[in-house]
Amino acid sequence: MEISITRTKTPKQKPKAGEKLPFGHIFTDHMFLMDYNEGRGWHDARVVPFSDITLSPAAMVFHYGQEMFEGLKAYRGKNGEAYLFRPDMNAKRANNSNERLCIPTIPVEDFVQAVKTIVDVDRDWIPSDEGTSLYIRPFIIATDAHLGVHPSSSYIFCIILSPSGAYYESGLQPVGIWVEDEYVRAVRGGIGYAKTGGNYVASLKAQQKAYDSGYSQVLWLDGVERKYIEEVGAMNICFKINGKIVTPAINGSILPGITRDSILRLCRDFGYETEERKISIDELIDAQDNGTLEEVFGTGTAAVVSPVGKLRYKDRVMTIGDGKIGELTQRLYDTLTGIQWGKIDDPYGWRVTV
Ligand code: PLP
Ligand code: COI
Repeated sequence: MEISITRTKTPKQKPKAGEKLPFGHIFTDHMFLMDYNEGRGWHDARVVPFSDITLSPAAMVFHYGQEMFEGLKAYRGKNGEAYLFRPDMNAKRANNSNERLCIPTIPVEDFVQAVKTIVDVDRDWIPSDEGTSLYIRPFIIATDAHLGVHPSSSYIFCIILSPSGAYYESGLQPVGIWVEDEYVRAVRGGIGYAKTGGNYVASLKAQQKAYDSGYSQVLWLDGVERKYIEEVGAMNICFKINGKIVTPAINGSILPGITRDSILRLCRDFGYETEERKISIDELIDAQDNGTLEEVFGTGTAAVVSPVGKLRYKDRVMTIGDGKIGELTQRLYDTLTGIQWGKIDDPYGWRVTV
């Protein structure tokens, strides 16, 4: 794919080393854009200065939410290298979302090339402080100016970049999670497995409830029986129960996380038995009662490996492992980030140099 590059004449001030970086508030000098029109396909791939986008108020994305997004990161190696982590997996998942949302797919190699190109142009924006990275947000929006409900015939694919610190204020400190028993996020047959705004807006009400009660995120139960564990607002969830690693199976209503997949692989290579299956909230409560619920952690690009110290379900509050980070959770965090930051060998071929 041919990508034209127009550099900004007014570069912005970059955050300074040592400055605390929030998650997703600061944006770099450039963005990637590509247009789609029916009959012409994807065209005009370009890197341009970061700017606002002008759309008709009738653009379909505003009314019916036809859009998808992805999330990955670029990491700075100790000699200034720029690394990506399994970007082909994001490209494939983007197309699974596109298929579900009637958005035209993008060839995997074009998606990866677009990510590499924009990261290369803004590579000086990749922060170097411990625990920081350049968060990459590719997204597609439907741009036809029409109020009828049908798939759009035109789209914009855009990639923006944000130098970011930890997703949770608390960093690697264990987070408190609210198990939601009133609202649901997704059902099988719906759009739960796609990465699209609708899943996140559906989560806001419960997340507000959780925040108001002092919890960081919501753990969703299945939308039908409200009994089986699904995933957390911005991460998948994993349990260490009686020495085994257990996580909800990919069932159509949760996001197939790339971090989840990588962590399961690491766990197996550490010698743990892993199970991807249904887990009921009652099973967790029983495991907590009989002392076999050893560790709980979330996995995600933004959240990395995030220890869970407390789970609240109805009027029950479960404290996990004295509220401290578990040994395996710490080992997984160190190994995953070691591979991502180029500090240790990558026997899996996950790290991609830009
Ligand atoms: N589940 C949800 C709802 C998410 O938003 C994310 C974040 O991307 C994940 C899981 C984890 O996915 P990944 O590890 O691919 O970032
Ligand atoms: C990610 O981890 O990349 C996500 O998309 C989570 C996000 C909703 C902040």
